[in-house]
Amino acid sequence: MKLTICTLLFVGFCMTMVQSAPVADKVTHEQIEEVMKKGFKAKLQDDLAANKEVLAKYAAWLAEYKPPKGDAESWKKKTGAIVAAIKADNQAALKKATNCKACHNVHKKKSSK
Ligand code: HEC
Repeated sequence: MKLTICTLLFVGFCMTMVQSAPVADKVTHEQIEEVMKKGFKAKLQDDLAANKEVLAKYAAWLAEYKPPKGDAESWKKKTGAIVAAIKADNQAALKKATNCKACHNVHKKKSSK
């Protein structure tokens, strides 16, 4: 009997782990900094074929992030286009979707450059 309860607890624990594994609770500003600096600024998006894995991770973070400015609907559209372009292996679409200015104008505060 004891063993059964332990097993149940253990399985429950594992399931919780699995559920929370793919996306962290909340994407932090530091993570977005990494996306911008190690990703976009380093031009990883210019070579989708070579950087697909890390770009997919970054795109997922972006999609989960709550931007400091602009409305959620617009953010969803912009980050959704990035996610979709990576999924479709569409270099041209990714280039268009990662237009720095178009997104910064709407979603980035003026103070942080
Ligand atoms: C989908 C929207 C989006 C796109 C596309 C985008 N950015 Fe950003 N970027 C942001 C947001 C939002 C912030 C501010 C994040 C914050 O303050 O939490 C930011 C911040 C930055 C920062 C400052 C990071 C810091 O130190 O806090 C840099 C540098 C940057 N972006 C570079 C780029 C470059 C270069 C490109 C294009 C190649 C680009 N970004 C494309 C949304 C975007």
